[in-house]
Amino acid sequence: MSIIFQESLKQFHLQSQDMSYIIQLVHGYPAHAYWGKKLDATGNMDHLLMFQERCSFSPTPLDDKCISLDTLPQEYPQYGTSDFRHPAYQVQLEDGSRITELTYRGHSIYPGKPELKGLPAVYVETEQEAETLELELYDAYSGLVVVLSYTVFEQFNAVARSVRFVNEGTQPLRLLRVLSAALDFADSDYDCLYLAGTWAKERHVKRKSLDQGAIQLQSRRGSSSHQLNPFLALLRPDANEDQGEVFGFSFVYSGSFAIEAEVDQFATTRVSIGINPFDFSWLLEPGEAFQTPEAVMVYSSEGLGGMSRTYHRLYRTRLCRGAHRDKERPILVNNWEATYFDFNAEKIEAIAREAADLGIEMFVLDDGWFGKRDDDTSSLGDWFVDDKKLPNGLKDLADRVNRLGLKFGLWVEPEMISPNSDLYRRHPDWCLHVPNRRRTEARTQLVLDFSRADVRSYIFESLSEIFLAVPVAYVKWDMNRNMTEIGSAALSAIRQAETAHRYMLGLYELLDKLTKTFPDILFESCSGGGGRFDPGMLYYMPQTWTSDDTDAVERIKIQYGTSLVYPISTMGAHVSAVPNHQVDRITPLKMRGDVAMSGNFGYELDLTLVTDEEKEIMKEQVAVYKENRRLIQNGNLYRLKSPFTGNETAWMFVSDDHTEAIVFYFRVMAEPNAPLRRLKLKGINPKLEYLVSSLDVNYRGDRLIEIGLPIPNISEDFVSIWFKLKAN
Ligand code: DGJ
Repeated sequence: MSIIFQESLKQFHLQSQDMSYIIQLVHGYPAHAYWGKKLDATGNMDHLLMFQERCSFSPTPLDDKCISLDTLPQEYPQYGTSDFRHPAYQVQLEDGSRITELTYRGHSIYPGKPELKGLPAVYVETEQEAETLELELYDAYSGLVVVLSYTVFEQFNAVARSVRFVNEGTQPLRLLRVLSAALDFADSDYDCLYLAGTWAKERHVKRKSLDQGAIQLQSRRGSSSHQLNPFLALLRPDANEDQGEVFGFSFVYSGSFAIEAEVDQFATTRVSIGINPFDFSWLLEPGEAFQTPEAVMVYSSEGLGGMSRTYHRLYRTRLCRGAHRDKERPILVNNWEATYFDFNAEKIEAIAREAADLGIEMFVLDDGWFGKRDDDTSSLGDWFVDDKKLPNGLKDLADRVNRLGLKFGLWVEPEMISPNSDLYRRHPDWCLHVPNRRRTEARTQLVLDFSRADVRSYIFESLSEIFLAVPVAYVKWDMNRNMTEIGSAALSAIRQAETAHRYMLGLYELLDKLTKTFPDILFESCSGGGGRFDPGMLYYMPQTWTSDDTDAVERIKIQYGTSLVYPISTMGAHVSAVPNHQVDRITPLKMRGDVAMSGNFGYELDLTLVTDEEKEIMKEQVAVYKENRRLIQNGNLYRLKSPFTGNETAWMFVSDDHTEAIVFYFRVMAEPNAPLRRLKLKGINPKLEYLVSSLDVNYRGDRLIEIGLPIPNISEDFVSIWFKLKAN
């Protein structure tokens, strides 16, 4: 890893293990010269990077007709001075003008990576792990300084980019658009791949080819959303799971975002990524600075699998933080689908007793334990125990659960307020709202205004009181609606469009404080399932509830799509009852278990109602998961068959030293007279001999890779099989 500045070429060459990223200053404009396979840093490449004259727009008074902003491949493009593609930033001056022109003022290169103040970001543990380039651009007339920051890593083929706006002038500046990164690829011979869906159907994989025009992924919901995940990949058309070039863009932010890939008239492709400029502006007074969130860009020459493994390792070890980062995650039982709002201490204790018998390690009390919450129409904000349901209090219940040998976890939804709550009656102005407009309810709730310090401190105090009094080992932090009427009673009229981003900054500040005050608690984020499964949340909470859809068949797709970017250790996955509560499907317990075992394993059903036979299966599942969970949660994922292309899905987890692996195979629908199937494995060592435990046979790795594991021909719906491999 290194960052080399070649003065004669005015070129910055950023290198990691197998990747180069090159920026060249062209008449002071930072031009994007190259991103891809590692290039030797020595030797001339000037003629390769010639920027041709293509039209009449050239930045006067330059008489170099070989450059035009309309065609120059750029790193942080502006609008209004002849580049007609979408810009990375736009700033309004006091006179109403929106033209600024950024050119190079200086740079610095230093070891390590600084924190992004107040924002989640990937980090280093030692300065040797990474190097950072800061490129300072300046608009002399307005005094606007823009610092582009690039970090490259020793161990990862990744570049982390963010931008700092500083007002060095004398007039206030209004930031209208402040993306975190942009770059221009030299051609448009790419497919784009992204993760799309809706509630209970999150992160389905979509792939389409690029063409002139733009593909836009965005959220305007005030959260990263169920609908489109803040992630985009460009792939060469021949790239697939295992080979070919892939360029990943992932946004470390949990609010409204915009990612765009635009193909222009000359078939070049501009990708940009950042906070959604829609309904955003920020007033930057003289002397103030604004920091954008971070975009993490990953290069892979080993297809999507290579990209995913880079994101997994980077996010698992250098984005997630805290005491639980490297620990095996507990197997839990959650009472939501077991009881919904209808429970009491005896019922909970009965479920926990059964759980203890199965070897489950934690009980999680979900929604309905506080205020007067017998359904979803009241009490959010009133974070004190419902003594009708739990007359002896939460601590008593947690103690009872603990005495059974289980840890105790608790659900909260701190960002919300029910109009029917004591809190709302006391503070009707504490929610996001716009004066004289209706307050749109969703699930009979409104969103608390987390841009306000007084709101945040009320929530901090309320939750701290519980966490100090009750032995809470795990918290499920839910968030069940998107933002509407985005305005804050605490902000002046000219700052109203700052509300959504200030909310995110407030949320991050509170999460930082809470997780640092209670470092032993394992936090899991949730947003109506996977509505905020993003890298921003993972910085504070190392796992996320993947989806409210617990049907095994649906989950195969959801977990497969999620695994494109997010590590297995971050994905909550539970076995639930049948018929499934979301889709009414009946699948075998075996399949439900195998799918859930491919994530952070748990149960979410009434264990007092399961048969003895089912209990035996569950005991076995719990034991198998315990034996393999380090391999599954922290191993290297290889996807073998995609549920988006057929009836079969398979994936496997391989240990770092390649001596151990576990393979999961699923077939949804029965097939008459099916052919003999073999599953070609990946990631194992071709030279080692492996014992395949369920078949009780030894095979050399090369056979398993080239010929494949024979799949038993079972003519049933919902087949699921796993194989364990151990090198002799
Ligand atoms: C939505 C979550 O995704 C569910 O798991 C559950 O916690 C409910 N909210 C509770 O209201």
